[in-house]
Amino acid sequence: MKNIFTLSKPPKPWGGRRKSQHRSPFLFLSITIFTFLLLFIAYNHIPESLLSLSSKTLDPKFSQCHTTKAISPDKKFFLYAPHSGFSNQLGEFKNAILMAGILNRTLIVPPVLDHHAVALGSCPKFRVQSPNQMRISVWHHAIELLRSGRYVSMADIIDISSLVSSSMVKVLDFRRFASLWCGLDVDLACLISLNTQPSLLDRLRQCVSMLSGLNGNVDGCFFAVDDDCRTTVWTYQSGDEDGVLDPFQPDEQLKKKKKVSYVRRRRDVYKALGSGSKADSATILAFGTLFTAPYKGSQLYIDINAAPRDQRIQSLIENIEFIPFVPEILSAGKKYAFETIKAPFLCAQLRLLDGQFKNHWKATFLRLKEKLDSLRQKGPQPINIFVMTDLPVTNWTGNYLGDLAKDTDSFKLYFLRKEDELLAQTAQKLATAGHGLRYGVTGMEKPCPQRFSDVLLFIEQTVCSCATVGFVGTAGSTLAESIELMRKFDVCSTQN
Ligand SMILES: *[C@@H]1O[C@H](CO)[C@@H](O)[C@H](O)[C@H]1NC(C)=O
Ligand SMILES: *[C@@H]1O[C@H](CO)[C@@H](O)[C@H](O)[C@H]1NC(C)=O
Repeated sequence: MKNIFTLSKPPKPWGGRRKSQHRSPFLFLSITIFTFLLLFIAYNHIPESLLSLSSKTLDPKFSQCHTTKAISPDKKFFLYAPHSGFSNQLGEFKNAILMAGILNRTLIVPPVLDHHAVALGSCPKFRVQSPNQMRISVWHHAIELLRSGRYVSMADIIDISSLVSSSMVKVLDFRRFASLWCGLDVDLACLISLNTQPSLLDRLRQCVSMLSGLNGNVDGCFFAVDDDCRTTVWTYQSGDEDGVLDPFQPDEQLKKKKKVSYVRRRRDVYKALGSGSKADSATILAFGTLFTAPYKGSQLYIDINAAPRDQRIQSLIENIEFIPFVPEILSAGKKYAFETIKAPFLCAQLRLLDGQFKNHWKATFLRLKEKLDSLRQKGPQPINIFVMTDLPVTNWTGNYLGDLAKDTDSFKLYFLRKEDELLAQTAQKLATAGHGLRYGVTGMEKPCPQRFSDVLLFIEQTVCSCATVGFVGTAGSTLAESIELMRKFDVCSTQN
C-alpha cells in the first residue's frame, strides 16, 4: 500500500519491463490495470489538502526563493514578528521602518495581531521566546486572521503614506508577500475568508513556516536573525566599538539561578547585517520581535536615536517619532469630540482588567479623583469626562466609575460603545480606503474589498488627544503613552 500513497513518486508500472518480457502479456496487462485502478481510487479518496501538502513536504529546497526572485529581482525584503497589544505593535512597527531603512530593504507590513495572541516574555529576566518561536507564532496567527476573515494590516490603521511617497521606506503587505513567496495564483489580500479553501490554508501554513528559520537559512535567499535581547543591543553609527559590552548584563545571582550564560553586546546593525555581510545577500531577512524599552539606563534591544553620518536615516528617525492614525480614524475621533461632546472635556483612560492592571484599581482611581477634585475647585460643573476603559459599563456600579456616573450634578460622562454608529461608519470608510494595499511592488497595488471590525480603541485614543481640559492615563500603560504622544503632536488641531 505504501507506494500508492507517496503520490509524488507514483509506482512505475513500466519499471519492471525487462523482467516481465518473459511473462505472459496478459498477466502484465492485468497488473497494470489493477495498479492504475488502485491509484485512481486512492487519488479520489485522499483530500486535496493532503495532496498539496505531500508535494510540498517532499520538496526540501526553497523553490519559493526562485519564484520570489523571479517576480521581484531587485527587491530585498525585511520581515519581523511583532507581539502583544496594539501599542507594543506600533512601537515595533516604527522600529521595523527604521531597521528596514538602514538595511535598505522593503518592509513586509504585518497585520494587527489580536491582543495577547503572541507573547515575548521578559527581557530583563532573560526569559523570552526565541526569534524562531516568535516568527512561527506570528506567521500562524496571521494565517488564522486570514482564515477567519479578520485580517487588518498595520498600514490600514497607521498612516505611512508620507513616508512611502517620500521614499523613506518601501513596503509590501504581508498577504501579498505570502502570495508571492508561496507561488499562489490567487491574491490572498483579496480573499475575504480562507475558511472554504482548506488546501490553500495547508499550503500557506507549510510554505510560511519556512520563513521562521526552523528549517535553517538558505544562502542568497533567506536569513533568520537569531540574536535577541538576551545577547544583543542593536546600534547604528553610535561611535561605540562594535561588539562592546552593554551596561545592562544578567547579574551573578540570575546567572547562577537560571544557569544563563548570556552576555549582552552592542552591535552595529549595518555592520552585522548590511552591505557586505552574509545576511545582505539574502532576498529575505527575518527578525524576531523588534520590541525595545529603556531599562536600567540602557535599551533592551534597539538603541538607535540618531544617525550622525547618514542624513537619510537621520531624517527617517525624525519622521517616525510620531506616525498618526489614518485620516478616517482621526476624523471620527474629532467628530465625536466636536459634535457629540461639543464642550471642553477631560479624558480618563482607565486600564482595569488586563494583566498587572487588575491589581491597581485603587491607584488608578486615585489619580483620577485627585484631578477631578482640583478641577471642581476652580472650574464650572458638570465636568465633562470622556471615559476610555476596558471595564464594561455594566460593571461600573460599586466602584469609583459608578460614583461618577451617579453624581450627575458634578460630572457628565461620555464613552463609546462597540455598537455605536460612528464605529460602523468608520469601519466602512476604512474598508473603502484600503490604505494597506495601496503600496506594493509594481503591478500589485490593486485594491480589494477589506473588512474591519475593531476600530474602537483607535477612535478612543483620538478622542483623548482632543481633550482640552486634560488627560489622566493609567500608570504603566503603553496606551497612555501613545495618547500623550498624540497630544504632544497636537493631532486634534491638524486639518483632516
Ligand atoms: C537601496 O536599494 C536599491 C535597490 O532596491 C538601490 O537601487 C539603492 O541604490 C539602494 N540605496 C542605498 C542607499 O543603498
Ligand atoms: C462584570 O459583571 C458580570 C455580570 O454582570 C460578572 O459576571 C463579572 O464577573 C464582572 N466583572 C468584573 C471584573 O467585575
